[in-house]
Amino acid sequence: MSAIFLIGFRGSGKSALGKGAAEILEVPFVDLDEIFRGKFGEIKDFVAEKGWDEFRQKEAEILQNFAGFSGIIATGGGIIELEKNREFLAKQKTIFIDLPLEVLLHRLTKKAEKRPRLETDKDLETEIRENFLRRLPLYQKSAKFSFSPDPELSKTANAENLAGFLNKIT
Ligand code: S3P
Repeated sequence: MSAIFLIGFRGSGKSALGKGAAEILEVPFVDLDEIFRGKFGEIKDFVAEKGWDEFRQKEAEILQNFAGFSGIIATGGGIIELEKNREFLAKQKTIFIDLPLEVLLHRLTKKAEKRPRLETDKDLETEIRENFLRRLPLYQKSAKFSFSPDPELSKTANAENLAGFLNKIT
């Protein structure tokens, strides 16, 4: 299997779905946020100390390192912020994990403290709504394929569906 990149907004389940599908398909799985943490520590702390621009640069370097990976790669929600990443992803087998804003809002406001805020001058719901709408065309432009998990189904069932979808496109 060649590299398959999963992109999508925070809370769309890229890591859980990617890991589940990789287990079913018996292919390697990697989560780029985990690679970042292994190298530089907690993302929240890194961003608080060094800022988002520095994080984006390191994230882009990590992404490039996985071009030749043979398996499934979960990316961070902001991977599409840099144009060079969008251009790179558009040339790869990239899948947009597409969920409605209302589902993401529900998930992200429940576990708010887990992730670093993107814009601290706004309330959380406004931050999520505005960034989702701004990013949506960027995800769509960067991915050849899209997969919509069913929020009513379990993680396992959605991972099985994703594995089936990947089988069809690879
Ligand atoms: C980010 C999403 C996070 C992580 C970082 C930045 C973003 O990944 O890469 O906090 O800009 O939305 P998840 O999508 O896995 O939460």
